[in-house]
Amino acid sequence: MNALRARSYDVAKKLLWRQRRVSSLNYQRNASTVELFVDDTPIEVPSDITVLQACEMAGVQIPRFCFHDRLSVAGNCRMCLVELEKAPKPIASCAFPVAAGMRIKTDSERSKKAREGVMEFLLANHPLDCPICDQGGECDLQDQSMMFGSDRSRFKETKRAVQDKNIGPLIKTIMTRCIQCTRCVRFGDEIAGVPDLGTTGRGNDMQIGTYVEKMFKSELSGNVIDICPVGALTSKPYAFTARPWELRRTESIDVMDAVGSNIVVCNRTGEVMRILPRVNEDINEEWISDKTRFAYDGLKRQRLTQPLIKVDGRLQPAHWEDALALVAEKINSTAPQEIAAVAGGFSDAETLVTLKDLLNAAGSDGLYTEESFPVDAAGTDFRSNYLFNSTISNLEDADLILLVGTNPRFEAPMVNARLRKAWIHSGADIALLGGKVDLTYPYEYLGGDANTLDQISAGKHPFYKKLKEAKNPVIIVGTEMFKRADSSSIHGAVSKLSHQLKVGREDDWKILNILHQLAGQVAALDIGYTPHLDDAMKKPLKLVFAMGTDSGVIDRSKLSKDCCLVYVGSHGDRTAAVADVVLPGAAYTEKTATFVNTEGRPQQCVAAVSPPGMGREDWMIIRALAEVAGFTPEYDTLIGVRERLSAVAPHLARYSKIEPANFFSQAAEVAGSIAPKYSDVPMKPSLTELSDFYMTDAISRASVTMAKCVNAAKGEIY
Ligand code: SF4
Ligand code: SF4
Ligand code: FES
Repeated sequence: MNALRARSYDVAKKLLWRQRRVSSLNYQRNASTVELFVDDTPIEVPSDITVLQACEMAGVQIPRFCFHDRLSVAGNCRMCLVELEKAPKPIASCAFPVAAGMRIKTDSERSKKAREGVMEFLLANHPLDCPICDQGGECDLQDQSMMFGSDRSRFKETKRAVQDKNIGPLIKTIMTRCIQCTRCVRFGDEIAGVPDLGTTGRGNDMQIGTYVEKMFKSELSGNVIDICPVGALTSKPYAFTARPWELRRTESIDVMDAVGSNIVVCNRTGEVMRILPRVNEDINEEWISDKTRFAYDGLKRQRLTQPLIKVDGRLQPAHWEDALALVAEKINSTAPQEIAAVAGGFSDAETLVTLKDLLNAAGSDGLYTEESFPVDAAGTDFRSNYLFNSTISNLEDADLILLVGTNPRFEAPMVNARLRKAWIHSGADIALLGGKVDLTYPYEYLGGDANTLDQISAGKHPFYKKLKEAKNPVIIVGTEMFKRADSSSIHGAVSKLSHQLKVGREDDWKILNILHQLAGQVAALDIGYTPHLDDAMKKPLKLVFAMGTDSGVIDRSKLSKDCCLVYVGSHGDRTAAVADVVLPGAAYTEKTATFVNTEGRPQQCVAAVSPPGMGREDWMIIRALAEVAGFTPEYDTLIGVRERLSAVAPHLARYSKIEPANFFSQAAEVAGSIAPKYSDVPMKPSLTELSDFYMTDAISRASVTMAKCVNAAKGEIY
């Protein structure tokens, strides 16, 4: 019954959003405008916006608590009151539509008095414990009470107190500070798709909570900390550790998945204190996932801080000179065909090109990626075969989305948020072929049989008709599918299908999308690394470089006993433990480097702190190694290595710009020449439960916060 009620609530909301979307589309079509006056200044504004937005267009800042650009309008805090000429009382500007000829007064006595009154009521019940509040210094209530409040209050009554709620290991609640703006409730309902938060009681007794005490089970839950205008919801791991004015902010890029969310790394005296989102409308809007936000404590644990060499079966500390000389000697004494390098998920483009130059100089072309990819069906020869070609932001225009063997909710939470947005705003329909997973929108389940994909691509399945009739169809394939024996058949089928749907279209709408999970994968493929690692591991290798390769693809037991495994990376995780030489590298907050996201968009992550101990930036390690081995590269600065990078792959130097991939028809033609052969093993993604999401790489596996989340998500004590 509850599920039914939740569903009808969702449907009602969807209709409401669709209505709004239609009216905004109509505006774009009709481009109608109205003229009104803000503080006696005439301004022409679109006819479907609110008074608050019109004031903003006129350059007047209106205070607000409940209004948020990306959430539906609640109109419940009344902080945005302004005077409207001839109106009997002040209006809530965030919920009032504009009309021609309106005269709005934002700085009149009446407007000021109205705001002072609202502020007085808010503060009547507010604890004012700013000195011990983590929001202090970045609190909307502090700022707006200074700007718009009065310097005295008429309330002498005792303040109300509200019991704190335990909603998990990430969010600390001090509910007495809550001003009931309901932003957190709307975020859960509308963006995260997890309506766990709600209100109980009325008036003075109104409270925000989860009804029965439980964890706020969302991979995006940390965003409520940012949108809460007061200190009612703050970060549990960050509690009482720093003040905002003590922190140095560095604008950077996240590498916890292949989406490349834009972040701000806040550090104090060489230590990362917290990670916040940075607005990028094309990628993460203003949200980040909980792993991006909270796994930073993993940067301080399990770190490799000095070179290690295996002596008598045990890794022993060594000097850089000795470790480099040992590996250089191995390079020079090993036959080129017995040398290989494997690019891990955290490998940046600069390191990858330096390593490629080193191996090529040594006569080897054994460059492999950690993630598998089909070797037939033109594999990675065509860039379109391995990119998220539609781009993330264009998903909002899709009307039919087919997910193949992926769980975007946990593989790429920001992509999943866009899919939910497409479902809500443009009414997109979504179908899933692969293991059944809990997504944040309803979907048509097509089963988990790979043969179904063959039927769809051959036009024999009813879903093919839907795809054919869709205006903007999109197919998203998860990389877990490429670990299967029938990966070439699956890729070939989606490639052919995408091409068939494209036939007759004149526009540049892209249909085929690969959703990567590793931040370093696309750059590695762009630079020329190949996904043929399985074949390489069958060869008698004598020297293997593992560049932060920790997903388990390097199986020490499959390498020969006399093979030297060199691990270059930041954490003592799975591979470092079995390596013969360990060279300590830098984590993503400690290096200035280029990462290319799943769309093929290069972005720069910037060093916020230095690597701990004797750790060095990875490309510098490889360059030093090349010099000791007698293959001194021409470059020895970051600018130099980037010049080399742009010579190998020019598009990687054009930050934030996507070089669109082409040759879809040629890729489909090659795919069509291969006879498909499907496995009977049901298709399913690797991450199915929320508890799977938190620990997926060396950094998040070292994080205590992520470990607590895993336990909490499994229903254990938090
Ligand atoms: Fe002070 Fe803001 Fe915290 Fe309230 S929420 S105690 S006003 S810093
Ligand atoms: Fe608003 Fe914060 Fe209260 Fe939620 S907890 S209703 S975001 S003040
Ligand atoms: Fe308008 Fe809250 S911002 S009522």
